Amino acid sequence: MVPIAHHNHFYATEVRQEQPKEFFRFLAQEASPQLGSGEPTVLDIGCAGGDFLNYLRTLFPNIRPTAMDVSPELISKASTLLSDCDFVVGDIYRGTGLPERQYDVVFMSGVNYLFDDYEAWLRNIISLTRGSAYIFGVFNPEDLDVRATVQRAGDQTSSMPFNLISQKSINVFLDSLGVRHHFKNWNLPIANPRSHDDPIRSWTIETSTGSFLVVNGMQIVHTFAVLAIDTIKSE
Ligand SMILES: C[S@@+](CC[C@H](N)C(=O)[O-])C[C@H]1O[C@@H](n2cnc3c(N)ncnc32)[C@H](O)[C@@H]1O
Repeated sequence: MVPIAHHNHFYATEVRQEQPKEFFRFLAQEASPQLGSGEPTVLDIGCAGGDFLNYLRTLFPNIRPTAMDVSPELISKASTLLSDCDFVVGDIYRGTGLPERQYDVVFMSGVNYLFDDYEAWLRNIISLTRGSAYIFGVFNPEDLDVRATVQRAGDQTSSMPFNLISQKSINVFLDSLGVRHHFKNWNLPIANPRSHDDPIRSWTIETSTGSFLVVNGMQIVHTFAVLAIDTIKSE
């Protein structure tokens, strides 16, 4: 049985897919005003094998990318994919190893569910951003903060977190810092029916209106959104 804490390790070995993930297109579109002109510096936090920056560069060859991940193994993999790119091994939660500079556009996708405390990573992202930040992941549109621990049945030696923090808690925190921001909800536009046995990998359920709910064996609906941060302080 694969320890559940290792469920992201496939990023180190998977052969890159020809098709970009659906939310890559969405994020690129959201950030296109910042990415399309000049030579913006771009940081991708939790870059894994570098696929998102690689995709962005096909659309915006002008960007100056930096790939950051807490895993040296994944940064090593990203360095084989991305040329003319800076690489950083750093921890956005603990604030260790962070670049000592700011970026025009900062991305972080598929990472925030790992963190139970949202203040630390948000402060760190803000400190790294001089323009805009786009944080894509699961956020609860209902006013409940859910902090779960997930284990495989029969294996108490390994666990992973799954945090579904409310948009409201983050709104309250960012408002208290005077940081302009907004959430934009996102739904997976295509079906991804279950075709595997692993309950930690997600699949979709079609609703009566033809939209798709993303779930996995936790039986928690994955409600996706992008949190767009403009680091200019409000008056
Ligand atoms: C689920 S993967 C998402 C990869 C990619 N961003 C995507 O959306 O396809 C989560 C990534 O976040 C990285 N990560 C986990 N904790 C981190 C931390 N504290 N700081 C930076 N990266 C982290 C993991 O190593 C992994 O590459």
